[in-house]
Amino acid sequence: MAYPREFMDELIARSDIVSVVSRYVSLTRRGSGNLGLCPFHNEKTPSFNVSSDKQFFHCFGCGVGGDVISFVMKIENIEFPDAVAKLAEWAGMEVPQSTYGEGERNKRKRAQEACRDAARFFHERLKADAGAEARKYLLGRGLSPATITRFGLGFSPDSWSELLDSLTSRGYSKTELLEAGLVTTGKAGRIYDRFRGRAMFPIIDVRGTVIGFGGRIMGDGEPKYLNSPESAVFNKRKNLYALNLAKTSKADYMLLAEGYMDVIALHQAGFDSAVASLGTSLTEEQAHLISKYKSRVVISYDSDKAGRAATERAIDILSRSGLDVRVLVMTGAKDPDEYIKKFGRDKFAKLIDAALPAAEYRLGAVKQEFDLSDDKQRVIYLKSAVAQLAKLSSTIEREIYAGRIAEETGVSRDAIIQEAVRERKRLIREKKREEEKRILDPVGAIMPKDREARYKNPRSAVAEEGLITLAAGDVRLALRAAERISGKMFSSELLGRVFDVCITRARSGLETDMSVFSEGFSEDETAHIAAVFARNSELSADALADLMDIVRGESIKSEADTSDAALLAAAEFYRKKKGVGNT
Ligand code: CTP
Ligand code: MN
Repeated sequence: MAYPREFMDELIARSDIVSVVSRYVSLTRRGSGNLGLCPFHNEKTPSFNVSSDKQFFHCFGCGVGGDVISFVMKIENIEFPDAVAKLAEWAGMEVPQSTYGEGERNKRKRAQEACRDAARFFHERLKADAGAEARKYLLGRGLSPATITRFGLGFSPDSWSELLDSLTSRGYSKTELLEAGLVTTGKAGRIYDRFRGRAMFPIIDVRGTVIGFGGRIMGDGEPKYLNSPESAVFNKRKNLYALNLAKTSKADYMLLAEGYMDVIALHQAGFDSAVASLGTSLTEEQAHLISKYKSRVVISYDSDKAGRAATERAIDILSRSGLDVRVLVMTGAKDPDEYIKKFGRDKFAKLIDAALPAAEYRLGAVKQEFDLSDDKQRVIYLKSAVAQLAKLSSTIEREIYAGRIAEETGVSRDAIIQEAVRERKRLIREKKREEEKRILDPVGAIMPKDREARYKNPRSAVAEEGLITLAAGDVRLALRAAERISGKMFSSELLGRVFDVCITRARSGLETDMSVFSEGFSEDETAHIAAVFARNSELSADALADLMDIVRGESIKSEADTSDAALLAAAEFYRKKKGVGNT
């Protein structure tokens, strides 16, 4: 760790996880812990646990977990040093000069500077004589000079090295330009400009830093867009196009479009809360990002089949972030850009007002699949519609939509409601059963992310979980356990390592909390440890002796197993050598 140890120790001591989490989540005390609604997924019953004893957070619902620093990193979507800086500010501490990731940070900074200079270069070229064709292209697509400037659009000359030459003469090395994704290496190791003869769209992060580019071919050809590669500066999953502008919009919703051109056309028409993902489909991180700024999102994807499929996916992802999701339905144009050109901004504003709540949109989509004049199809439609109704948690919403379905199908509204309620109860029962299974069965409760951490010997692992929980929280219990048990006896390598850490600390009279694992343990491992602590939090000290017996017993058994196996192998080898056949 490149921050001085004393600084980190004091920072962690002063950053109580319960008060830090409380800045974001309202917590209520429950037993030995604190409980709230998970900020990382959408839920109605709290399963987000925060322990002040062991300084961890863990969600039984979605499996996230870790210590106070990883909480801040996750919720703010920031890197380790930035989380440290934030915590230090809250704790009223000065962050000492540190070399933490200095190499990495310098590299990133250089790459960002290169991107910024490249954006200037492209913009200048657009305005120069050489940019005449590109200017014509952009103006021809209905963009005003003011819009072009506002979005910093540019032109990459059709040359192998104009950008390369310009930036190397400004002092950038080839390695730096490669890291910024501005140049690429050819077969013979030759380095040349990545973007050639394209209209350039700089991609700017929420703080206003240029992090990459999308380059559109002018006219037909493949690929239509060439994007900067994923790099230390450019993370496609964690950023949104035009969020730097949209975040200050007065609108109470975010408008989510598919393409860069849609976003720009929308802003130009006054819809200044439009954003788009960056050449990939929408991610959980982007949904979370949106929810940091607005509570409502209006999906305005292309009206073709691909756009409708993307909408279905986006509804799920956005809803999980707790957003109020609406879907804008557009006919007569393939995307918002074309719609505004054809019908004008006022008509589009009406579409936003008329955007459907996700549930209603989905019911409509189901209906389109069926011919309701056909009895058989009507029955199938009813079933799918009821399945959608059952997903709604609001009784009022269910009743309203049931009324509509009744009108369409001629089936009584009450019957539909009854069916939906029955289906809903079934869904809830099913979910509850799954949840119980997960909580009661510690092995099954392992989050899917770290499947590799699945226990080889569940019986022993359950006892090992208990042992580390007791050893972490009580020095005397830890020392007692250390008399008969060591990490080597554990069937789970990870839990064994945790146990050894607890024992080492206990020998110096120290308890162990989550912050201890921020070094030497991976992100998945710390999340796993938090989960272990969370599900064993009510374990009594009386269990210690039994747990030790199990771990010892299983360990001896597995040694015996391996020695049995070794004996058999030896016998086999001997038999073969002697030419004794298998009988
Ligand atoms: N996209 C991409 N690479 C491609 C095609 C598309 O990264 N080869 C991404 C871009 O982010 C693009 C979005 O997908 O903005 C939507 O694609 P599309 O609808 O084809 O582009 P538009 O931005 O709408 O551009 P235009 O109006 O010029 O067709
Ligand atoms: Mn498009």
